[in-house]
Amino acid sequence: MNDCLPDATDTWQAFEAIVRDWLRRYGYREMRTPILEHTGLFKRAIGEVTDIVEKEMYTFVDELNGESLALRPEGTASSVRAVIQHNLLYDGGKRLWYSGPMFRHERPQKGRYRQFHQVGVEALGFAGPDVDAELIVMCADLWRELGIAPTLQLNTLGDYESRHCHRAKLIAYFEANQDALDEDSKRRLHSNPLRILDSKNPAMQALNDAAPRLMDELDEAALAHFDTLQALLRANGIAFELNPRLVRGLDYYNRTVFEWVTDQLGAQGTVCAGGRYDGLIEQLGGKPAPAAGFAMGIERLLSLMEVAGTPLAPAVSDAYIVHAGDAAQAYAWQVATALRSAGLAAVLHCGGGSFKSQMKKADASRARYAVIIGDDEVAAQQVTLKPLRGTAEQTCVEVTLAIEYLKQASTEKA
Ligand code: HAM
Repeated sequence: MNDCLPDATDTWQAFEAIVRDWLRRYGYREMRTPILEHTGLFKRAIGEVTDIVEKEMYTFVDELNGESLALRPEGTASSVRAVIQHNLLYDGGKRLWYSGPMFRHERPQKGRYRQFHQVGVEALGFAGPDVDAELIVMCADLWRELGIAPTLQLNTLGDYESRHCHRAKLIAYFEANQDALDEDSKRRLHSNPLRILDSKNPAMQALNDAAPRLMDELDEAALAHFDTLQALLRANGIAFELNPRLVRGLDYYNRTVFEWVTDQLGAQGTVCAGGRYDGLIEQLGGKPAPAAGFAMGIERLLSLMEVAGTPLAPAVSDAYIVHAGDAAQAYAWQVATALRSAGLAAVLHCGGGSFKSQMKKADASRARYAVIIGDDEVAAQQVTLKPLRGTAEQTCVEVTLAIEYLKQASTEKA
């Protein structure tokens, strides 16, 4: 779990501002759900035989009432729970998003943390491939804005009947090859054979490559859905790779699944992932309704932006006010108030000291200008504006004019 120190927080806030505006432009609305939920919610939604539920959830018993609670490992289950609880789909589909910390007790490494942050997007109540395409197109749009270029991997898992048939064939196939299975796969053989295909064990690769393919079981409706999605993506200029091995680590998916991946971040190369989950709302007790969505890992996206050299403008204050002498200090307080009332960010030097030492602090403060106030300025009821970056000239002006200059400078940098 990481601390986010002020320099990093500046970057996060710049990223969040871009994301917020991007979601607004696509008509998605923010929803905030609790970080704690009943453990049973995640078991039912994500699946009992998944890495997340079996070994990664921070679960504890609430001693006051004996309930088992968990820190949320992802946001889809909570979103669906809230949508059902508040009957949000009563008047049709909803486009929602959320952002915040998620918790998984994984082995920490670069790009994999125990507290990490997602922006999640869920389109609930829409059945067609058009909304799948919208979700993917909007990701591509964001990547352009962030100056990164992950690649899109796409697959379809078909519907529940096809998966059921495929599952039976997989079990038969792996049973016939029991001796070649590793321990994890043996354990999953009857509970979740699809997850065997997801094995990272190189010794399992040949066996997995020759396993029965879900693609061969897909019914016409699921194939048509997938074909239309691909046509929409092509029409929108979105390149993708079909990856029949893409199965995802959460059980709620059906039909479309996708991952945006990069080879620039080492082992943790998936920056965004999602798909359709048409059965989940009903499974969690709601009226049957289709749904699709995705979530991106903020830490991974920021790392990728760093690799790509995309600058995220650090926030700077407009002015650092230095002053010497009692009269100057009183005037400096007034000037600070005037600047802030005008919407400018002004840091008033505290702790006294010589002009020289105060100017060092101003330089280090990342302000655009030092506002210098000495006896001369008090007498003239003016301030000296000294640029700390850029090529502007030092100048002595009245406060109202200083405010105009500082506002101008802040829009130039924006
Ligand atoms: P997920 O694939 O488990 O899907 O996570 C989505 C993204 O979160 C990953 O692609 C990755 O970028 C990031 N992520 C996951 N675990 C970690 C970690 N330990 N450290 C850093 N980043 C991580 C979901 O969570 C689904 N709820 C997505 C979804 C939404 N599907 C439909 N709607």
